[in-house]
Parts: sequence; C-alpha cells; structure tokens
Amino acid sequence: MSYMPHHSAIKPITVNDIAEMKLRGEKISCLTAYDASFSALIDKVGVDLMLVGDSLGMVIQGHDTTLPVTIEDMVYHARCVSQARRRAFVIADMPFMTYCTPETAAKNAAQLMQIGGVQMVKLEGPHFEVVDLLVKQGVPVCGHLGLLPQLINQLGRYKVQGKESKEAEKIIAEALQLQQAGVSLLILECVPATLAKEISAQLTIPVIGIGAGVDCDGQVLVLHDMLDIGILKRPRFSKNFMDEAASIEAAIAAYHHAVKTAEFPTIEHSF
Ligand code: KIV
Repeated sequence: MSYMPHHSAIKPITVNDIAEMKLRGEKISCLTAYDASFSALIDKVGVDLMLVGDSLGMVIQGHDTTLPVTIEDMVYHARCVSQARRRAFVIADMPFMTYCTPETAAKNAAQLMQIGGVQMVKLEGPHFEVVDLLVKQGVPVCGHLGLLPQLINQLGRYKVQGKESKEAEKIIAEALQLQQAGVSLLILECVPATLAKEISAQLTIPVIGIGAGVDCDGQVLVLHDMLDIGILKRPRFSKNFMDEAASIEAAIAAYHHAVKTAEFPTIEHSF
C-alpha cells in the first residue's frame, strides 16, 4: 500500500514545511480565502497558508460579527477553497460554540477535515483540553490569542489586547500552554508588536500575526481588507495592496512578496 497519492509535480505544503520555515527564518504568508476562484489565485501566487476564516460571516455574509457563522457554513466554504487548492496549506476556523466541549469539537473538526478537506482547524482562546483531544485524534490545531472576535459581546468593541503588563503576561502564559497542549501554529491578533515579538521568540511553533507587528514568524490578512473590496472599513493594521497593483493577482503577489521580505507590516500597521 502506498501513502503517496500525489502524482502531480506540485508538492502540497505540509505542517512540517511550515515548522521548518520558522527554523530557517523564512517568513510565512497567509491570506483568508472563502471560495474556489480566490483559492486558485492565492495558491497560484505561492501564498503558503489559506485560512477559511469565520470572518466570512462579516465579509461574505454581511453580518456585524462572526457569531452567526455555523459549522455548515464553514464546511461549505472550506470545501470550495479545498477544491481549488494545489499547494497551499488550508486551515479552517471552528465557529462560535462549536468547540465548547472536547467531544463537540471532535465531531465538528471531523466535518471540517472529512467534508471540508482542510489540513488544520483553528480555535479562539485558551481551550487546552479541547486542543489535547483533537491533537490526540490526529487533528492539527492552530491556536488564536489576543483579540478574539468570537468574544465581541464580552469585549464590547474590537480593540488591541495585552497593552497592560498583567494582560500581556496572561497571553504569554496561554501561548506557552497552547504549545504544550499540542497546537502546531498560533495566530496572534491585535497585540502590541513588542508582545508579539516576545511570544514569537519564546515559542518553538510558528506565530502568525495580524495587527501584531513585523517580528512574528508570518502574517495573515483578511483578503477583502487587503484588496479593499470589503463592505467594512479597512482596519489600520491592514494595507490596500490594490493601490499599486494592475490586477487582483498582482495585489496578492505583492502582499506575498512583502510578507516574505518583511516589508509588511511596517510601524504604521502596528500597535
Ligand atoms: O476569521 C478570520 O479571518 C481570522 C483572521 C482574522 C485571523 O481569524
């Protein structure tokens, strides 16, 4: 029996490739994707990771928050993205309330992987027991700390997290515990650049930032923000890559290049 089903010349990126990028100091590029056409374009340009984010609740479905997104929505969009992907590594968000117990999380992660076709799932917050069970069952997990959009009704508004030292220490401790629990990747959203730098240096797993400064191991942006086609105001930490590009493909290629060369983000996109 062969475990080598790919006959194509294109070698899909694996979780090991991502870990090695951090070891050799190569920046990791990531963009959100929600459909097959953009998936094909992002993949073609060479972006390393695609995130089927629950941000789709806002940029695709037009809601005010990510909370209305269901597991069925995520599986549908994950499948659309996976169909067109050749090389990029695909991660899907576990939506609000779909991982409140390890057993619930296992059932929903199974759908994202078996039907959605993704290689990793992402969940917001310090849910160590959930991570532990998923990893033991063979599900690669991406953690997400800092600003947690699924907590918007507790937070009141989207704002930078970890500015106070006590809060920053809590985020560092949770990042280390998530790594200990088995996450292979961590997303840090809207935290001071100095805090993100410290966490990226302390963790052995890659840290992908969004509004977290240039010293993370990689960067992610919401596709509609960086193409400036969203119905929402583009956040300060994002950049309009369409400004100087002749096409959508050129804008995505410029983003990929800017991340790889650490030209994005700059101070103006950092906190
Ligand atoms: O849902 C999403 O797109 C995300 C990114 C903002 C990291 O979680």
